[in-house]
Amino acid sequence: MIPLIAPSILAADFANLQKEVEMLNASQADYIHVDIMDGVFVPNISFGIPVTEAIQKHAEKPLDVHLMIVNPDHYLEAFRNAGAEIISVHYEACTHLHRTIQAIHKLGAKAGVAINPHTSVELLGEIIDHIDLVCIMSVNPGFGGQKFIQNTYSKVSRLKELILQKHSSAKIEIDGGVNLENAPKLISAGADVLVAGSFVFNSSDPGATIAALKSF
Ligand code: DX5
Ligand code: ZN
Repeated sequence: MIPLIAPSILAADFANLQKEVEMLNASQADYIHVDIMDGVFVPNISFGIPVTEAIQKHAEKPLDVHLMIVNPDHYLEAFRNAGAEIISVHYEACTHLHRTIQAIHKLGAKAGVAINPHTSVELLGEIIDHIDLVCIMSVNPGFGGQKFIQNTYSKVSRLKELILQKHSSAKIEIDGGVNLENAPKLISAGADVLVAGSFVFNSSDPGATIAALKSF
């Protein structure tokens, strides 16, 4: 199965954001993955609403916004207005996840749930048929360029089983350390969407790297 590719703009050259977005527009990328970090939920700060709006101004691909923030409910509307088509919140950051998912849908966006490496996919059993995407973190969130965690493969297979069992239409997205070595294994385990930051932007030809990630 051909995966959807979501290059993470976190690894782009922020001084040339328009150029980077135009490169993604011209590529085979399916989404633009936008990583929002608040310095509280994760030990790093990336960028926020005005930069997301600036990306949206030039983007011809849907924005897949990954909120690595506490109290995401306070910012859902702002990110939707800034152009988010998919909004993913962290399971670990949401006390009332069902309510948060309802709020995202009410805004007309697709709702995703991201899970940290220590969080079991089985915990999603009661919510899986209400969501559009599960983002399995294959690194500890907070930074690009980290090493892929190997037990992700088994999480993908178990999540795929859960999705089939619950007749859910949720897509499985993998985020962190994705490259050409692990991509085929992730796809055969059941992954639908691959996020790739440094592997794409640090390559000599990002457009060709995106095409290569879609070639399985
Ligand atoms: C990590 C972010 C990822 C990151 C991926 O906290 O959620 O989306 O940008 O970057 P790479 O592909 O470099 O691991
Ligand atoms: Zn991300």
